[in-house]
Amino acid sequence: MNNAPIGIFDSGLGGLTVARSIIDQLPGESVIYIGDTANSPYGTKPVERVKELSLSVMDKLVDRGVKMLVIACNTASATAVFAARSKYDELGIPVLEVISPAVHRAVSATRNGHIGVIATHTTIETETYQRALHAYQQVQVSAKACPAFVDFVERGITSGPELLAVAREYLEPIRDAGVDTLVLGCTHYPLLSGIISYVMGPEVTLVSSAEETAHDVYRQLLDKDWLNTDDGTDTVNPRYQFLATGDTQTFTRLARRFLGPEVTAVERV
Ligand code: DGL
Repeated sequence: MNNAPIGIFDSGLGGLTVARSIIDQLPGESVIYIGDTANSPYGTKPVERVKELSLSVMDKLVDRGVKMLVIACNTASATAVFAARSKYDELGIPVLEVISPAVHRAVSATRNGHIGVIATHTTIETETYQRALHAYQQVQVSAKACPAFVDFVERGITSGPELLAVAREYLEPIRDAGVDTLVLGCTHYPLLSGIISYVMGPEVTLVSSAEETAHDVYRQLLDKDWLNTDDGTDTVNPRYQFLATGDTQTFTRLARRFLGPEVTAVERV
């Protein structure tokens, strides 16, 4: 058992989809979440800049005494995971990311071997998904950057005609290419899964990394004997702390809507 919190971060609200799954699957664990909203979006920035920003946020989490880091952002996972592991490994802090869990799930889910990936510009440009998926024989990949989606989510817009028109423009070519599985390769996108599923149609399986990443967290904590188990009594008292590098009021309002009552007042970091 290790009572220290799990540190989770994203450029903004998207990583809350991962936090939600971690809180649901590991009810005994405390969580500190940072939304790097002062520097959002990450997905339009160069690789080196995203790496630098991600390491700086992870330093803040490490200073707050986390036992594990979860990069709840695909763009940061694609650019910073190796640097983060070499930096925090020696402190004994494992670093988990969101891309490999999504890749495993997509490969198990596909029936026709044609997998679509939608993500930010920077994630698509690094080709991290394309390479990881192509490591499996017979998998065909159609990848597409959908940069406007992040902006809609950060503004709290998850439905409506403007978003539907953008979704159609991005997704129809991938749907028509014949994918049967679509990886939501940005942690903001599960918040748009209603509209994405509507455009892709019911035959297409949507894969988000949130649940799979939470399974990874569970496995690692159990392996290390760090898991705070929920023994059915009220003795386990997890703490949830939410921090943002930018405006805290908007973040509080939208984070409560997207994640729920665990989000109390968001502090500025
Ligand atoms: N949610 C992030 C991702 O998974 C990044 C969104 C952004 O800041 O562009 O890639």
